[in-house]
Amino acid sequence: MKERKGVRSRLLRASRNKRDLTPSRIVRLEPDGVVILDQRRLPDEEVELRLGSAAEVAEAIRAMAIRGAPAIGVAAAYGYALAAARGEDLDAAYEELVSTRPTAVNLRWALDEMRVDPSPERARAIHEAEVERCRQMAAYAAGLVEPSSRVLTHCNTGALATGGYGSALGAVRAAWERGLVEQVWVDETRPLLQGVRLTAWELETLGIPYAVIADAAAASLMAAGEVDCVLTGADRIAANGDTANKIGTYGLAVAAHHHGIPLYVVAPTSTLDPAAASGADIPIEERDPSEVSSRFAARNPAFDVTPAELIAAIVTEEGVHRPPYAASLPRPVHA
Ligand code: MRU
Repeated sequence: MKERKGVRSRLLRASRNKRDLTPSRIVRLEPDGVVILDQRRLPDEEVELRLGSAAEVAEAIRAMAIRGAPAIGVAAAYGYALAAARGEDLDAAYEELVSTRPTAVNLRWALDEMRVDPSPERARAIHEAEVERCRQMAAYAAGLVEPSSRVLTHCNTGALATGGYGSALGAVRAAWERGLVEQVWVDETRPLLQGVRLTAWELETLGIPYAVIADAAAASLMAAGEVDCVLTGADRIAANGDTANKIGTYGLAVAAHHHGIPLYVVAPTSTLDPAAASGADIPIEERDPSEVSSRFAARNPAFDVTPAELIAAIVTEEGVHRPPYAASLPRPVHA
């Protein structure tokens, strides 16, 4: 994986129990660059990338070396602070960063927060606040998990995706710590396999029992009565509760609804988009078809929209929100 000229990478050697999922390991700002753990190389290699400009941060977001809605917001905030420190054109840096990926609203939210004060301190405060929001919403969401639950989750919504702790996977972690989780089913999450590469790696690190499944196996496990609830994250939540998340979430929601299994969305208020009245207003990223097949013709929508009526509750750091979401959802907070 040839890095862009100027991007420096460093291979880290870490054994399983020394794996470090702390926020600064996933993304941090140093005087001469933004440093990220390259998530494309996980779980086989732990490689740090040092990104020396807003353009290099933008490329890392576009290429998904860092991914997950809150984490790309944090990385963009650090990229903007770096641009300010280097005396780069901030309007150009804003456009370069905000145009990397269209669906996750956290990107624009974080950059708008940085417009006010493009300082490293502000960017670090945004990062710390996102991690704290994860802890708060995980505690609320764990309250929805019944004892001895077999929880199914999709994509990666852990520390890697949020810059520390985790949203839906944070809820799994908090529920596990309360002794409520018997097993986690981890959708492999084609085409880029965030489930089998990243979520399994995080659950293994946390010592939480899990089994990876083919995405196509989820509905039959539900039919067999082996799933008690579904926990997913979100990339953008419209004012009416319609939620965009990793492709495959909508199919999970339809199957869960059919089998009477609750699906819960866990996401910080930085993922709420009151300007989107419904899912129809959410831009869906189409990525390179070669991620699906480099040999045959392919389509590669990276996200889909789950209609609000298929979502049992949306959990933010402000609490558990029930339908009708137009009335119950809070507004995005400022960092
Ligand atoms: O394409 P990705 O890996 O960035 O997609 C990530 C997801 O869909 C996550 O579920 C979402 O961003 C929430 S992460 C806490």
